[in-house]
Amino acid sequence: MSKMHVKMNVNGAEVEGLAEPRTLLIHFLREQLSLTGPHIGCETSHCGACTVDLNGKSVKSCTVFVAQSNGAEVTTIEGIANADGTLHALQEAFREHHGLQCGFCTPGMITRAYRLLQENPNPSEEEIRYGISGNLCRCTGYQNIVKAIRAAADELNATREAAQ
Ligand code: FES
Ligand code: FES
Repeated sequence: MSKMHVKMNVNGAEVEGLAEPRTLLIHFLREQLSLTGPHIGCETSHCGACTVDLNGKSVKSCTVFVAQSNGAEVTTIEGIANADGTLHALQEAFREHHGLQCGFCTPGMITRAYRLLQENPNPSEEEIRYGISGNLCRCTGYQNIVKAIRAAADELNATREAAQ
């Protein structure tokens, strides 16, 4: 199959490459760009380990062809930390509240939570649980993930208020 030239903005940088149109975005990110944070946990679009932010939406990158993401703005877990290199509030809160064990779901989970807190900056526990229902975790039982996202929401809201 002939390859197409693809271009996109990933984590703030313009990137380009050659890929077959059928190449999945997750494979392009991992294999061509060496962004190996987003993971593959299934072949049925359930697990969400591959979640990235694509044009302002949480997207399972195993379910998007690279051809569809041509020209897109993509953020992966590698682009979530603050510009000065410190951890994003979500990353810090997952560490602090033990929201990860094996870490395999974590890149997708945090990238999803990053968008969730922009969709809803002050979510209830129920809204958090529903908001991450596209992301499976086999280790944590979710409880500490919910705590971490709630703590990050408080932190981000406090920072936002202080800046006003
Ligand atoms: S790898 Fe499971 S939803 Fe994408
Ligand atoms: S921390 Fe292991 S799958 Fe979530």
